[in-house]
Amino acid sequence: MYYPDNLVEEVRARNDIVEVISSYVRLQKKGSNHFGLCPFHNEKTASFSVSQPKQMYHCFGCGKSGNVITFIMEYENYTFPEALKLLADRAGVSLPEIEYSKEEKERDSLKTRVLEAYREAGVYYYRVLRSDAGKRAYDYFKDRGLSDETINKFGLGFAVTGRNLLYNHLRSKGFDDRVLNEMRIFRMSERDGMTDIFWNRAIFPIMNVSNKIIAFGGRVMGQGEPKYLNSPESIVFDKGRNLYGLNHARISRKNNIIVCEGYMDVIALHQAGFNQAVGSLGTALTSGHVNLLKRYTDNVLLCYDNDGAGTKANLRAIQMLRDVGLSVKVINMSPHKDPDEFLSNLGAEEFETRIKNAENAFYYEVRMLEGDHDLNDPDGRTRFANEVAKKLLKFEDPIERDNYLEAICVKYHIKTENMSKLLAKLAARGEGIEVYERPRSGIHSSSPEDGIKKTQKLLLTWLCDDPGIYRLIGKYLTADDFTEEIYRKAAAMLFDQIEKDEINPARIVSCFTSEEEQNEIGSLFNTKLEMLETRQDREKALKDLLLKVKTYSFDMQRNNNEQTDLNTLDQAIKNKKILQEIQALKLELSE
Ligand code: CTP
Ligand code: MN
Repeated sequence: MYYPDNLVEEVRARNDIVEVISSYVRLQKKGSNHFGLCPFHNEKTASFSVSQPKQMYHCFGCGKSGNVITFIMEYENYTFPEALKLLADRAGVSLPEIEYSKEEKERDSLKTRVLEAYREAGVYYYRVLRSDAGKRAYDYFKDRGLSDETINKFGLGFAVTGRNLLYNHLRSKGFDDRVLNEMRIFRMSERDGMTDIFWNRAIFPIMNVSNKIIAFGGRVMGQGEPKYLNSPESIVFDKGRNLYGLNHARISRKNNIIVCEGYMDVIALHQAGFNQAVGSLGTALTSGHVNLLKRYTDNVLLCYDNDGAGTKANLRAIQMLRDVGLSVKVINMSPHKDPDEFLSNLGAEEFETRIKNAENAFYYEVRMLEGDHDLNDPDGRTRFANEVAKKLLKFEDPIERDNYLEAICVKYHIKTENMSKLLAKLAARGEGIEVYERPRSGIHSSSPEDGIKKTQKLLLTWLCDDPGIYRLIGKYLTADDFTEEIYRKAAAMLFDQIEKDEINPARIVSCFTSEEEQNEIGSLFNTKLEMLETRQDREKALKDLLLKVKTYSFDMQRNNNEQTDLNTLDQAIKNKKILQEIQALKLELSE
């Protein structure tokens, strides 16, 4: 954790959740809650609720849940410290500088200076583009169909032909050689000293997700080699961890991200309204890119160039993205080479259609396999069927696998029965049974564990909504009765708050720093309680919940104990007595 709990709490408490969320979502008051359309999934009726008393939000549609910090993290795609910073600024709370070691500080201040220098360089190139000296490049961008707004949005610029214009400019702005060296965009020569690497090139600043320039790409004007020159990696630029355009795409509010190859592709897509496009800039997708994408979306649309290299890039990307549980589709751009050319020839509407018709990654893979085999030749067909079977075995979900199997068999006129046999044969040989833990998102399938979790959640929500009942049942309940680690922690904090008469579920949420955990905690306190009419019904329901939670807790306890443990019997008798006591309990709820 970066900041002390009390400070986090102060920032949270000073930002009223209804006020903050109202600036992003239109809310309407209904009873004690506010409702609006959920910003985290598409919906027509409002299932997104914000509770002023609890200072929490919860969507009954998609399950997103948390406090004001969670909201900012999810909406802005910020990390915990970033969200805290935004809210602290909003409320006028000053956050202390984080304590760093001396080396970290030095590196950090060098990094800060390099970023400042990049910023200054960006401004410089941008001004040149807008000056007389930049007319050629400005016309070039215009020729390629870019509007002024787009040129601004991407901060495009121009480097004229000149030995060390940028270098001198930055020196005059007070940046020393140590900093300028770290930018990696100057070359040292015996004769000329430090010289600029970008001469007579259109400049594309590369920004990180915080909108800071960390590198440049420079394109030759017209023909010439190399077509693009990029600044090399540096202390601020790690190619494998940055995607061009992600600073814009991350707040696009679309439910997918389009990945393409080039600078101009990203820019043209944004200009045409596809502001969810990012570019891997000619490099193969890395695991750093994949993790980055995973942070911002569940659906990736691949839009690599329509050529051999693009196909290879697609196949590689499909595998990598699928491995982290992302859903992948491939956009077909034929007859054009890349999105930029596609858009200038066929327009945005047609591209939208291509998005709708994007090919499921599995079908794409099979179609590419098809190209490698002669399906008119029996041997070719057999080899093809084998390859397809191997791919099918990669699906862990049997229903999903069967669906694909059927579809593929129909398409290629293979007997389903034969394909099933082939699968069984390969599986028996141990083919394709690597099973990885997939991070799942959204709603989980229901299982007995889900049932007990739901019960535990209901009990916690009830306690939070009506802490008075703690007086009645508190002595039977401990945090350890909750089977998930995260529930246990939350329960312990809630019980503590109830005992101190300081109920504050939103505070519990920000004791966890990841969005996933915050969602989970949020939902603990926002499970939908059925409105039971009579007092007796409510008393019965509460008792049932308590009994279920305790019974399960005792069962787990028994499973965890050693079979030979002499105390086990003793314990079992005690437990039974407690359950009987709860059974006989006279719960007197207020009306
Ligand atoms: N690239 C590069 N260096 C090169 C060629 C390409 O870094 N010598 C990267 C650039 O990021 C480029 C991307 O690979 O945007 C795709 O290359 P390519 O398809 O050749 O270029 P386009 O993006 O189509 O370029 P343009 O439309 O400007 O001609
Ligand atoms: Mn192009």
